[in-house]
Amino acid sequence: MRVVRGAFVRRGDVGQGVLALEGVGLAAIAEAVGTPAYVYSAGQIREQYRTLERALAPVPHRICYSVKANGNLAILALMRSLRAGVDIVSAGELARALAAGFAGPDVVFSGVGKTAAELEAALAARVGLISVESEEELTLLAELVRRSGVGAAVAIRVNPEVTVETHPYTATGERGKKFGVPYDEAESLARRAAQTPGLSLVGLAMHIGSQLTHTAPFVDGTLKLLELVDGLRRCGVETLTTLDLGGGLGIRYQDSDRPPDAAAFADAVLPHVAASGLTVVVEPGRFLVGNAGVLLTRLLYRKRSGGRVIAVVDAGMSDLLRPSHYQAYHEITVDGADGRPREPCDVVGPICESGDFFAMGRNLPRLEVGDLLAVGGAGAYGFVMSSTYNARPRPPEVLVDGDRFAVIRDRETAEDLMRGECPDPAWVRRGRADPRTHRGEGGQPHGGVPR
Ligand code: LLP
Repeated sequence: MRVVRGAFVRRGDVGQGVLALEGVGLAAIAEAVGTPAYVYSAGQIREQYRTLERALAPVPHRICYSVKANGNLAILALMRSLRAGVDIVSAGELARALAAGFAGPDVVFSGVGKTAAELEAALAARVGLISVESEEELTLLAELVRRSGVGAAVAIRVNPEVTVETHPYTATGERGKKFGVPYDEAESLARRAAQTPGLSLVGLAMHIGSQLTHTAPFVDGTLKLLELVDGLRRCGVETLTTLDLGGGLGIRYQDSDRPPDAAAFADAVLPHVAASGLTVVVEPGRFLVGNAGVLLTRLLYRKRSGGRVIAVVDAGMSDLLRPSHYQAYHEITVDGADGRPREPCDVVGPICESGDFFAMGRNLPRLEVGDLLAVGGAGAYGFVMSSTYNARPRPPEVLVDGDRFAVIRDRETAEDLMRGECPDPAWVRRGRADPRTHRGEGGQPHGGVPR
């Protein structure tokens, strides 16, 4: 029996050839909550966190977990128990972080398109750091700070214009990308921030991409940021305390992946930062949770077409988008399939799109109807990128800790999906309808088609 990467340990008490997460058999979870279902290992998350914490120990640092990777409140609470901060990109993520018990100062707010309302919410929560990504955002933030009388600590998110090897959709630190301030404009914008009343320029930030498998671009980016730090200090800016290096550390989705481990990352980057005296902030998402999660799914049907074996499972691209969207590889393991002959197989979902697949031509044990499959590497960018396409309620989320498990999000229902819809709209000719009564201004319902 092969063990699903990172997440699974084989335990005598859950039986030979049986898939388990920590001490809990996945079949028991599937039985309890049905399929599809996301399952995460608290132990694995703790271990990843502590590994990174140890690697960063040589310099003052803060790990700010990237909420976008997996924003379930129980996962956030677990991060908080480990003393992490959080990296957020929206008011929704801020609300989640606060609901999970984080305080404003634990929060770093990045994002290329923060709205005025989101910046106001960040000021009201007194977030620890706002990473400004454009000149116009700085102008807006300065105005909001002036109006509210609440000051803010800011960093300039710099596009260090380095080359990264990853899927083009997740490369962010290259020249011409929408993220951050172009390198040659960053210093002057930082100086402007430093002179803006109510703002304190505490740092520079970057996030150069995700699922990065080499340390070189992290080093290149760090050196470019440090060059700016030197320039700013020479100009008399004395408030810099922080260097935010973003997230991006890759993980192993398959055996051939060779991402640097946390120690290799730290060994490559930290010596350059040490002399600056700055506190290093990192914003890992995938590294902490990616391999701590699986998507459980059951085989509905097995058929042949055009010489291919096609296995139709009950999860689809609506539940886990990565294979379809990035052609991403996710390990698939079959419960209790030890000793079966293997064959190449397409594992596909029930959704009406040919792009709805988890694996094509994958060498798997010969599948049978009712088999329980675990799709690995599903802890990051899994549930958070799910949708309800084809009116499919989203799966439940389950957290395992030792020999216990808990549902940390219920399976959605069809009613959940229809919440807030109105089958019988009251048309409004002008002005706004009251969303609760569906009535227009003056309280009168308006019939007919709008003109
Ligand atoms: N900080 C910022 C500003 C980010 O934009 C991101 C991710 C992170 C930190 C965390 O990056 P990580 O450590 O997880 O690589 N949906 C894609 C990944 C998109 C990442 C977006 N930004 C995927 O499924 O691969």
